[in-house]
Amino acid sequence: MSVAPTNGHRLLQITDTHLYADPESVHAGVVPERRFRAVMAALSPWLTDAQAILHSGDLVHDGSIAAYRRLRSALLAVERPGRVIPGNHDDRGSLRSVFAGDPVSAERTLVVGDWTLIGLDSLQPGQVPGVLADDELAALDAALAAMTTPWCLIAVHHPPVPVGTAWLDAIGLEHPEPLLRRIDADPRVRGVISGHVHTAFNGRWHGRRMLTTPATAAQFLAGAERFTTDPSAPGFRWLDLRADGGIDSGVVRVPMQ
Ligand SMILES: [Fe+2]
Repeated sequence: MSVAPTNGHRLLQITDTHLYADPESVHAGVVPERRFRAVMAALSPWLTDAQAILHSGDLVHDGSIAAYRRLRSALLAVERPGRVIPGNHDDRGSLRSVFAGDPVSAERTLVVGDWTLIGLDSLQPGQVPGVLADDELAALDAALAAMTTPWCLIAVHHPPVPVGTAWLDAIGLEHPEPLLRRIDADPRVRGVISGHVHTAFNGRWHGRRMLTTPATAAQFLAGAERFTTDPSAPGFRWLDLRADGGIDSGVVRVPMQ
């Protein structure tokens, strides 16, 4: 059940929807479209107290414009401003062409109360691990320089720190040091929110929150040495971005019938 945030603004995060042009398509033993629809239905009561929504990558699995359009329609239906960032399965050009305009777009920043959400693009075409190119790091520097809020949350598909699952940590964000250096140097940056690992992670790095969130599609088994799916339910994350720079957050799982 949703409880209104007591001291801040609420952001809702979904991730790794892995939709296909054909909504009946199966991926890793599940029908991503069906799970996505179930998660969006469960998220609905949380919208009352939420100001914004984030999708942290792997929007579609097949790069199809049809799947991007269907996803955008569903995100527009929640009637909240939103941002999307690409994951390794996304097609950068298609994503940007469909999510080109507000209120739900691939724009870099979104102000949510006392916070600025800054989205980063870690996609390397044709590769599973992510990386932040020099121009992406320069864009982060520019966004931080232009920031008008006291606090910042960075969104990047690939987690910049290990999440404790060996095969996923081997395909995370390559060369995370330039990002981590910038975070370390800027006390306004309070955390990093990611997808990619299809499981929940709640860690800290140098006092900053490092969070990942269950996919709406198939789940991966936390702690596994090699690729292993997990029968756990899909889910989403809520984040209450407090005025004092703290983050209250939790994951909601959505059991499938
Ligand atoms: Fe994914």
